[in-house]
Amino acid sequence: MHSWCVQADWRAPTIVGGEGAHFIDDQGRRFLDMSSLAECMNLGHQHPRVVRAIQEQAATLCFVTAAWGAEPRARLAQLLLEKSGFAGGRVFFTLGGADANEHAVKFARQASRKARGRIITRERSYHGASYAAMALSGDARTESQVDAASFGVLRVPPPYAYRCPFGTTNDEDCGAAAAARVAQVIDGAGAGAVAAVLMEPNAGTNGIVAPDNFWPRVREATALRGVYLIADEVMSGFGRCGEWFAWQRYGEAGRPDLMTLAKGLTGAHLPLGAVVLSAGVAAPLEHAMLYTGLTYCGHPLACAAGVAAVQAYEEDGLIERSRRLGAEMRAALDRIAARHPVVGEVRGGAGLFAVLELVRDRATREPLAPWATTHASLRALVDRAREAGVSFATRGNLIILAPPLVIGERELIDALALLDRLLGEFDWT
Ligand SMILES: Cc1ncc(COP(=O)(O)O)c(C=O)c1O
Repeated sequence: MHSWCVQADWRAPTIVGGEGAHFIDDQGRRFLDMSSLAECMNLGHQHPRVVRAIQEQAATLCFVTAAWGAEPRARLAQLLLEKSGFAGGRVFFTLGGADANEHAVKFARQASRKARGRIITRERSYHGASYAAMALSGDARTESQVDAASFGVLRVPPPYAYRCPFGTTNDEDCGAAAAARVAQVIDGAGAGAVAAVLMEPNAGTNGIVAPDNFWPRVREATALRGVYLIADEVMSGFGRCGEWFAWQRYGEAGRPDLMTLAKGLTGAHLPLGAVVLSAGVAAPLEHAMLYTGLTYCGHPLACAAGVAAVQAYEEDGLIERSRRLGAEMRAALDRIAARHPVVGEVRGGAGLFAVLELVRDRATREPLAPWATTHASLRALVDRAREAGVSFATRGNLIILAPPLVIGERELIDALALLDRLLGEFDWT
């Protein structure tokens, strides 16, 4: 079965290879990947260093359980603690993002001694599709499948300044109001009853980019109240937002207590997720029984891929590259928006992540199609771009731009020129 689609409607080419920012189908057609597939192939396709590391690890040792030590697991944990500056912390490895978030919640509850403590998350958020991760997510697609309250989840409105749920008219006020609501909900439940706030720090999977004052204020509010802050960096980590981890944009004022990773952790060459615990969260767990485990926790092949991925980001200068090309992409998108009234807002660009929100009317901000449906012209644009050899991702009225950090400058410019041209070719009424 195929994810997030009607099975009977699914039709897509079979992908048989890839190289750099391109993937190749079984007809030999090459596609420039403007979304890193699922915003995960930050290193592009078939990164030679990562492929080699997997081959070498496979020839040495494919598997060992977490009951025993494994060299690549220890090395990767060390690297993650270094890159995040979580000295004295610990890392728990999972298989992907959803179980990383579930485990972060477990650890936060156990370390805070609030065994059933509430978890505050945002409406219009995505943290994974397993049951507890669905409960954590404020996702309209799956809301009816799970009773979030029974998982101890409380939701707050997102810092979505373009359509501010608090009725404000600028980024700063929206960020302040959204952070104040988090504080209010903690106070309403009682700080002793709330274990953690779990959110994406900056760019969001649902196309929301938080105003810059939002995350530091949430950090301040949670710290003041003795509530842990968990940063979901599954999508925003590993250069996507121009930093190793998006919270680093705010310096120490943005440092969370726990952070979850997946996707870019191996550049999607193998499935792997992680929870990074600060020293403060790890300490109370040090002499406590940890009632959790995964057979494949810290799988040596995946961790070897992770070590090679971290080295590739570093040695190829990809974090800085993402920042530089992100600024270039943002400038090009702003020019595109000036030419096409269907573009209501451009967001992002701190790294190679940006969003175009399409509207029917720029003045009233009337959505192009009701959330989360997709206008026929946008679907046709995606098909036409594919025919031209460029793969764009959309979600509702959003075009999400998240190419691999290795994309060539010329490739990026050409893809955006194609987008510019296609936006002018369709009827957006
Ligand atoms: C922010 C965020 N968190 C969690 C997840 C879930 O990760 P996975 O699909 O690896 O379970 C995703 C996946 O898209 C994500 O974008």
